[in-house]
Amino acid sequence: MGLLDGKVVVVTGAGRGIGRGEALECAEQGAAVVVAEFDPAAGDAVVAEITGNGGRAVAVGGDVAEAYVADSLVTTAVEHFGRLDAVVNNAGILRDRTTAKLSDDEWDAVIRVHLRGHFLPTRAALRHWREAGTPGHLVHTASTSGLLGNFGQSNYGAAKAGIAAFSTIVAMEGARAGITSNAIAPTALTRMTLDLMPQEFRDQRDAALARGEFDFFAPENVAPLVSYLCSDESSHISGKVFGVQGDSVEIFQPWTSVAEVKGDGKRWDPSVLAGRIDELFGSSGIQAGPENMMARMRYQILDEH
Ligand SMILES: NC(=O)c1ccc[n+]([C@@H]2O[C@H](COP(=O)([O-])OP(=O)(O)OC[C@H]3O[C@@H](n4cnc5c(N)ncnc54)[C@H](O)[C@@H]3O)[C@@H](O)[C@H]2O)c1
Repeated sequence: MGLLDGKVVVVTGAGRGIGRGEALECAEQGAAVVVAEFDPAAGDAVVAEITGNGGRAVAVGGDVAEAYVADSLVTTAVEHFGRLDAVVNNAGILRDRTTAKLSDDEWDAVIRVHLRGHFLPTRAALRHWREAGTPGHLVHTASTSGLLGNFGQSNYGAAKAGIAAFSTIVAMEGARAGITSNAIAPTALTRMTLDLMPQEFRDQRDAALARGEFDFFAPENVAPLVSYLCSDESSHISGKVFGVQGDSVEIFQPWTSVAEVKGDGKRWDPSVLAGRIDELFGSSGIQAGPENMMARMRYQILDEH
C-alpha cells in the first residue's frame, strides 16, 4: 500500500534533479505520473525508469509556461489515467547576475518560467477540479532565495517569493472545494546548484559518499514531503511553506509584523519619524542595513554536512 495508490500526479520539470526524484517517489507510492519536461530525452528516461519498475507514467514535452502545454498536462492525465489528483510545480531555471548587470531577457526568462510556469498548470488543474467537482493537491516550488534573499538572484528571488505568495492565495481560494496548496523551499545538489558549491565542499561530499554515508544533499530527499503533500493524508495542511533538505523538514513563519511605532493620532511628520524609526530596530533586534540571511543559513548547513 502506497500513500498515492490509484492517484494521478503531474510533476513539471520532472526530467532531472528534484522533479525527477518527486516523479519517482510518487510512482513508488502508487501514483500514475505525468512527467512534464522541456527536454524530451530527459522526460522519456524518467518515464522508462518508472514503467521499468512496474509503474505508470507518460511524458509531455514542451515549456510549461505556455498555456497549451500547461492545459495538455491536465488533459493527458485525464485521457491516459482517467483523473487528476495533484500537480507538483517544480520546473525552474537560473540566470544569476547582480541587478545592475541583469539583462531584460534574463529578468523576463526567470520570471516567466517560474511565475507563469506555476500559474498556468495551477489554473488548468483548478478549472478541471471545479468542473469535475473533485478536490486536489498543489505543491509549488519556492526557494530560500525568495523567502530570505540571496546575493545576485533578484530575478530568481522575486519569482520565488512570488510563488510563496501565489501558493498562499490559491490555498485560500481552494479551501472550500477541498483543494490544498503548499509551497516548498528545497535545498539539493543538482545541475542547477552543483557548480555554485566550493570545490572543497564537493570533495568532502564525494569522500563521504565513498564511505557510504547518507547523502544529505541528494535531490531525492525532497520527494517524501512532496509525495505526502500530494496525498489525502495531508488534506488538513494548506497555505504553508516548508523547508526541506536531507533528513530535515521545516516550516517557515509567514511574513509578520514584529514592532511598531505610533504617531499621536495624525499623519507622521517625516523629520519626527526620522527621530523615532530606530525604535523599530531596537525593540525587534532586526538590523537596519541589508543582511544575506540565505548565505548565513546555507553556510551553516554546509558546515554541518
Ligand atoms: N537545487 C536546489 O537547491 C534548489 C533550491 C531551491 C529551489 N529549487 C527549485 O527546485 C526546482 C527544481 O530545481 P533542480 O535543482 O532540480 O533543477 P534542474 O535544473 O536539475 O531541473 C529542472 C528541470 O526543469 C526543466 N525545466 C526548466 N524549465 C522548464 C520549462 N519551462 N518547462 C518544462 N520543464 C522545464 C529542466 O529541463 C530540468 O529538467 C526549481 O524550481 C528550482 O528553482 C532548487
